[in-house]
Amino acid sequence: MRYEIVVLRRKSSDDKPYEQSFLYESEGSADTVAAFLISINKDLKDPISWECSCLQKKCGACAMVINGRPCLACDCKLSDIQINGKIRIEPLRKFPVIRDLICDRSVLWENLKSIRAWAEDDVKLKEDKDAILFDSGKCLQCGCCLEICPNFCSEGKFMGMSAMVPVSGLLQKLTPEQSRALRREYSSHIYAGCGKSLSCQNICPIGLDIEKLMVNSNAIVLWKHLFM
Ligand code: FES
Repeated sequence: MRYEIVVLRRKSSDDKPYEQSFLYESEGSADTVAAFLISINKDLKDPISWECSCLQKKCGACAMVINGRPCLACDCKLSDIQINGKIRIEPLRKFPVIRDLICDRSVLWENLKSIRAWAEDDVKLKEDKDAILFDSGKCLQCGCCLEICPNFCSEGKFMGMSAMVPVSGLLQKLTPEQSRALRREYSSHIYAGCGKSLSCQNICPIGLDIEKLMVNSNAIVLWKHLFM
């Protein structure tokens, strides 16, 4: 199939964005946006900058906005996302763009660091016994949930679901005493800012049940250990 693909590009964070259009002949229905970018870059004098590592939906590096929807380029089939053969590719809009489709998502890590969202001791996962903990460890930190969230902005106090998911595992594992400071941070940086629209629920590329993790965390932080 033949696609008309527009890529929103930018030479640097100081330059204005511009569109570049391509006609792309797909080799099969399994062709992904990542396959398109790899293929087209072979012929471009000024290749499109984008991030990728695993090409297997495992690292989250290739998150971008494709026909208005945040998704992973390596997981997004052209045939599934096209509208009348047309596809528009843009960088994530909630983060500063560095160049073309690469943006600076360091705020995700800075947020986790600022609330000390880590376990001091080794945590051993058992999928059957620690389902919440196991699920929280699968988050790719790709930023797709933040892109779709009406309440998140990278300069704001609300840290969004990319912080809630890893914290949800810790809240499950730590004792009430160990988690006291983290529960305070959760309350002010996650619970207080979430409008519960759950727009993130169906956007997670790996299908995490964000609602379940959030309900469990809210229960731990607000009800089970409220006065501890
Ligand atoms: S390249 Fe790793 S998730 Fe797409």
